[in-house]
Amino acid sequence: MLGFFILVCIFVCLVFLFIRIQRPKNFPPGPRPVPIFGNLFQLNIVNPLKDFERLAQRYGNIYSLYIGGTPAVVLTGLKAVKEALVIKAADFSGRPQNLLVSHTAERKGIVFLDYDPVWREHRRFSLMTLRNFGMGKQSMEDRILGETEHLVALLEKSAGGPMDPQTLFHDAASNIIYLVLFGVRYDYGDERLKQFIPLFTESAKIANGPWGMIYDTLPVVRNLPLPFKRSFTIVRIMKQMVAKMVNEHKTTRVPEEPRDFVDCYLDEIDKRGDDDSSFTESQLLMYVLELHFAGTETTSSTLLTVFLYLTTYPDVQERCQQEIDEVLEGNAHASFEDRHKMPYTQAVIHECQRIANTVPLSLFHCTSRDTELMGYSIPKGTLIIPNLSSVLSEEGQWKFPHEFNPANFLNEQGRFEKPEAFIPFSAGPRMCLGEGLARMELFLILVTLLRRFQFFWPEDAGEPDFTPVYGITLTPKPYRMGVRLRQPA
Ligand code: HEM
Ligand SMILES: *[C@@H]1O[C@H](CO)[C@@H](O)[C@H](O)[C@H]1NC(C)=O
Repeated sequence: MLGFFILVCIFVCLVFLFIRIQRPKNFPPGPRPVPIFGNLFQLNIVNPLKDFERLAQRYGNIYSLYIGGTPAVVLTGLKAVKEALVIKAADFSGRPQNLLVSHTAERKGIVFLDYDPVWREHRRFSLMTLRNFGMGKQSMEDRILGETEHLVALLEKSAGGPMDPQTLFHDAASNIIYLVLFGVRYDYGDERLKQFIPLFTESAKIANGPWGMIYDTLPVVRNLPLPFKRSFTIVRIMKQMVAKMVNEHKTTRVPEEPRDFVDCYLDEIDKRGDDDSSFTESQLLMYVLELHFAGTETTSSTLLTVFLYLTTYPDVQERCQQEIDEVLEGNAHASFEDRHKMPYTQAVIHECQRIANTVPLSLFHCTSRDTELMGYSIPKGTLIIPNLSSVLSEEGQWKFPHEFNPANFLNEQGRFEKPEAFIPFSAGPRMCLGEGLARMELFLILVTLLRRFQFFWPEDAGEPDFTPVYGITLTPKPYRMGVRLRQPA
């Protein structure tokens, strides 16, 4: 018995010593993987950021890694990222189908769909619907401005003292996406605004943490009752919550008179009929869930970064205010068109997005056929990790790559200019679906609030800490900001 056990041990050791994962020919360089586990042991699975930094420094703008048996390629810098996502988009726009996040999405929604006809139809549908006036009478701009008025009202109440902007921005971003999807909003502090947050946070933590990595690395453990099972339960709970909202919405719906995104989608289901159509109600549930998730956390993290920098760079804030006052003069409110007359404010928003680096590694892509990149061969099914962060601070692409400076987006004449390396929404056919909405939100909220209020770093708050918290999105550490009215109400 003991002899047998020792034999097994020796065998396992031999496997690890001599059998290597066969790297594909001419594959990008990277640390040597071991069978089954890939490079799991070379990474700190709780916070791998430092390890990645080391690898990027050692191997340059394209290197490979093994996540279990799955090869992955990390792209660093604009040249590599652009060549893959834009120039060779047809080969690099898939999504991996064998990870925890893809399994919990059940091949529904849009974010984790492969580069296939269902994805294409749903992407086209959203881009059409989310366009201004795509959803009945109320434009996207009106929806955002309406929510911004509620923000102003609340800030007026807390003016004078310092406040914690975190929940407020989260609620506002959540409301805007609810207005788009369902035409409803909730008062700040309403329990319904918070119902999804703990679930989103928990599932992001699992997917992004050690258990997610273990699930992705070791297919053999996937059926065991380990903590990653909770991810599937969370998605089930959230889908039930969305189903309830959709069903309530249906009771007041008039077919072909859409009030919002969900109505448009239900009309589309009717229009296409049942046969083989990819537009179904269960697809809608996952879609709504993903738009809600993708549209809330990202936008509120960016807003938090914007106000962190505006409170700590009062001169930048003041210059924005001068420009805003001049352009808006007696107008009742800002409009998105005004951005063309506000180069400095535009530059500040873009610089905050660059520094915020909200989605540092984008979402993972996957090659849909054997292809080549930067002289290396990349087989079909390779995980592609575009390092957006590296592009947003790449030397040679920016005047001031490592400091906060709106001049990164201004030319000699003081006009707004967007460098090619500005890709916080990624690039190519998979680029963020909500870019238009997000940019409109950032502009209208910032301009409206700066016109009305002055924001400052509270005296007793100590030194500001600009290091972000690592998660699926990067977000500033919690902070408080002071708010003062600028002009009498
Ligand atoms: C400042 C805010 C935002 C940032 C920085 C951001 C960033 C990103 C990034 C980096 C991706 C990955 C693109 C890729 O795979 O190459 C993405 C995808 C996506 N985003 Fe956003 N996003 C933001 C706001 C939004 C909003 C408001 C919505 C909702 C309307 C949204 C919906 C989506 C969707 C659905 C995808 C997946 C697209 C696909 O797979 O085809 N995002 N976003
Ligand atoms: C991405 O690039 C940034 C900045 O160059 C670096 O700090 C980080 O470690 C890189 N991440 C990966 C996964 O290579």
